[in-house]
Amino acid sequence: MSGPERIERHPVLGEVGGRGEPVRFSFDGRPLGGRAGEPVGVALLAAGIRALRRSRAGEPRGIHCAIGQCMECRVEIDGLGTRRACLTPLRDGMVVRTHRDPGSADG
Ligand code: FES
Repeated sequence: MSGPERIERHPVLGEVGGRGEPVRFSFDGRPLGGRAGEPVGVALLAAGIRALRRSRAGEPRGIHCAIGQCMECRVEIDGLGTRRACLTPLRDGMVVRTHRDPGSADG
């Protein structure tokens, strides 16, 4: 599961990936794997997924700051509303979906 896209150590957050138990989750219905406790965004990047939402103009958006400040990594998790992929710890069975901004063409 390691690869060039997997973030193992972050300059601000410290160790962020690759140390928990293997877990399964999905993104827009696509089954994926990751490590328990790593940020959802880390697991998505490791799977090659960079676009987590669309801007109101329809442009793809994804991880930008990776420290919880920019909100560019918004996703929907387990039907509970908006979460930041860069900060939300991955759990087994999570259902992650592309974020739909209210007012956007697909929102
Ligand atoms: S990438 Fe900036 S808040 Fe998550």
